[in-house]
Amino acid sequence: MHSVLNQEIFASRRNKLLSLLPNQSAVILLSASEKIRNRDNAYPFRQNSNFWYLSGFPEDCAVIFLSRRGKKDFYMLCSKPRNPEMEIWTGHIIGPSDAKNLYAADETYSIDDAAEKIAAFLSEAEIKNIYTTFDGVELASETQEFIQAVKAKGGAANSANYLDIEPFESELRLIKSIEEQNLMFEAGRISALGHRAAMLAAKPNAYEYTVQAAIEAEFRRHKGCSPAFSTIAAAGKNACCLHYQRNSSPLKDGDLLLIDAGAEYAGYAGDISRTFPINGKFSRDQQALYEVVLHAQTEAIKNAKIGKTHAELHRETSILLMQGLIDLQIIEGEAKELVESEEAKKYYPHGTGHWLGLDTHDVGNYKEPDGQSRIYREGMTLTVEPGIYLQEQDETIPERWRGIGIRIEDDIVITAQGAEVLSADAPKTISEIEQLLAGRS
Ligand code: GLY
Ligand code: MN
Ligand code: MN
Repeated sequence: MHSVLNQEIFASRRNKLLSLLPNQSAVILLSASEKIRNRDNAYPFRQNSNFWYLSGFPEDCAVIFLSRRGKKDFYMLCSKPRNPEMEIWTGHIIGPSDAKNLYAADETYSIDDAAEKIAAFLSEAEIKNIYTTFDGVELASETQEFIQAVKAKGGAANSANYLDIEPFESELRLIKSIEEQNLMFEAGRISALGHRAAMLAAKPNAYEYTVQAAIEAEFRRHKGCSPAFSTIAAAGKNACCLHYQRNSSPLKDGDLLLIDAGAEYAGYAGDISRTFPINGKFSRDQQALYEVVLHAQTEAIKNAKIGKTHAELHRETSILLMQGLIDLQIIEGEAKELVESEEAKKYYPHGTGHWLGLDTHDVGNYKEPDGQSRIYREGMTLTVEPGIYLQEQDETIPERWRGIGIRIEDDIVITAQGAEVLSADAPKTISEIEQLLAGRS
């Protein structure tokens, strides 16, 4: 992960977070740690999103500590010490000395001294509240271990209240600055390029993994991006499994292929779904059902405006989808009733969208403080992803529709002028898709 934002931006985030906390508070956040895949082989390292948001610091084995000295903000960053012998194996370690300037910290120390330095600050500043990472009602396990080490040094760490930082940090992360929106446009652009490459690679007798390889290669070709989440390449009835990841089936002439994939750029996720005919041409039924989902999706994007609630957008979208199924005589009933009774969930089991940012399913409460659904505000970024899933074994629908899954997903930012699409370069209309597919070699 590589930061392309300058340090003033991270400093202003730290400053904003501290301004939300009562006096005599401190924040302790641990970096992500390396996760072993098997034996001594680790998964590719991904920084913790909250830690990244406040520091842009890319290494594991690090802790950030934020507080105030008098009226002045204070930022301590503790990280791995340099180790030339180890660096022959692992590559460059930034080290506390360089970290001070590069990451605009007031003080930097070796991670080995972190507990002692933090304990001393807590006592000196008479800190009463420590905001940190919880897992449910308990401290997250690695945090718990670190806090124990701080407490063992004696002093205020032992009498302080420990509180969850998440509600404060997630509210900050929910509204994206212009700089973040620009990074998300780039994530959207690269994700869309990947989808174009995937469409070109999908042919009868190729495999779902052929398409996965093409899309992930395209991400990598652009600024070294990796997938933001596990790529879904689901042909035919596999598309009716929402989190299908096996990606091992052959692509059959006459089936649709659903691809849900996105690139991560500078920590920010793209998340796009497209569904298209493997042989290049939608059948009449496929086209009819696709148009139902497309209509619901374009309406939802149009209606995702400041002041609209997240729940209302989902309700309206669900009604449009059910009406489409009724019009095609796939189901019977009254669209609003199907949605209110939750029968609609049989065909549309997921939400219309989710917050998008440093995490694919980004942080941010879906409710206002008074408990009503969240009202869209300028700078919120989310996905709009209606879908219809007609299960193969569903004997309540006419046979010819069974085993079809269609999802269309774009990423948007809420602006004063309405929703702006971050992922607009991925072909979406029937004619755009068929035209691109017609150019396959
Ligand atoms: N790709 C996961 C999702 O769309 O929520
Ligand atoms: Mn999504
Ligand atoms: Mn998705």
